[in-house]
Amino acid sequence: MTGIAAPAPFLLVGCGNMAGAMLRRWLDVGLDPASVTVIRLSGQPVAPGIRVLKAVPESGPPPALVLLGVKPQKIDEVAPDLAGALGDATILVSILAGVEHRSLRDRFPAARTIVRAMPNTPVALGKGVTGLYAAGGTAADRAAVERLMAALGLVEWTDDEATFDLLGTLTGCGPAFVFRFVDALAAAGAALGLEAAQAARLATATVEGAGLLTAGSGETPSRLADRVASPGGSTREGLNVLDADEALATLVRRTLEASFRRGREMAEAARRG
Ligand SMILES: NC(=O)c1ccc[n+]([C@@H]2O[C@H](COP(=O)([O-])OP(=O)(O)OC[C@H]3O[C@@H](n4cnc5c(N)ncnc54)[C@H](OP(=O)(O)O)[C@@H]3O)[C@@H](O)[C@H]2O)c1
Repeated sequence: MTGIAAPAPFLLVGCGNMAGAMLRRWLDVGLDPASVTVIRLSGQPVAPGIRVLKAVPESGPPPALVLLGVKPQKIDEVAPDLAGALGDATILVSILAGVEHRSLRDRFPAARTIVRAMPNTPVALGKGVTGLYAAGGTAADRAAVERLMAALGLVEWTDDEATFDLLGTLTGCGPAFVFRFVDALAAAGAALGLEAAQAARLATATVEGAGLLTAGSGETPSRLADRVASPGGSTREGLNVLDADEALATLVRRTLEASFRRGREMAEAARRG
């Protein structure tokens, strides 16, 4: 994909791990750096041709698009200045976990369209997942946001904010859980005698290959597991450990529930202001 365009001027407020990964991908697929201004506390350069400021400019044309990418706890540090800079044609996209549409609308009344987006870090490779939710706004604005996010990987809309929070928990937090699994697989290999660096390489490539197969084979993960686990064989013996008393399923359910609960707490904090 080349020559992607975003509504301009395009303002990124916060450009750390997540917003930075999104921006890297957009630049890779041809976004014009001259259309982008980054606001970040450190003022550190982001990429050639991109203007970086430490605070929202007090004058100038209102941004056509804002990506709000600070930590949820920082929203009230940036909201007053940012709200004053928005125009009635501004699209505001928030990637803040747990900060609900109502909390955003209260803080940014001028924005024409507010979209909540929940991406994950593989967006940097165009292999991310981004959940989208908008209450109100224009169809054209929603389409513009969708086009931009489609350059990052899979895009899924939902028209229910509770579902959005749920799918955002799965996709936003999910990569970290998979990274832990890669580490655990490597550590288990090392514990059995493999050299640690080799075990890490093997575990990483194995998860990459298995992920691609899951996405590309058209078969369910359960069927794929059965295909490599003949009865009485070594893979089946290992799966029996993961499956006993639903050990892995229970652990992962508790993991996701904990993240979802924390998201709700953050939403509550943002509601209180
Ligand atoms: N990480 C993920 O996988 C993920 C997934 C989905 C959603 N999110 C959401 O993405 C958001 C950012 O997370 P992150 O992991 O990218 O955090 P991060 O790496 O800490 O980035 C935060 C950014 O905010 C900037 N910042 C802090 N205070 C500011 C202020 N007062 N004015 C302007 N900029 C300010 C920081 O500036 P400096 O760079 O100068 O320090 C930094 O660029 C969060 O709301 C999170 O819920 C994250």
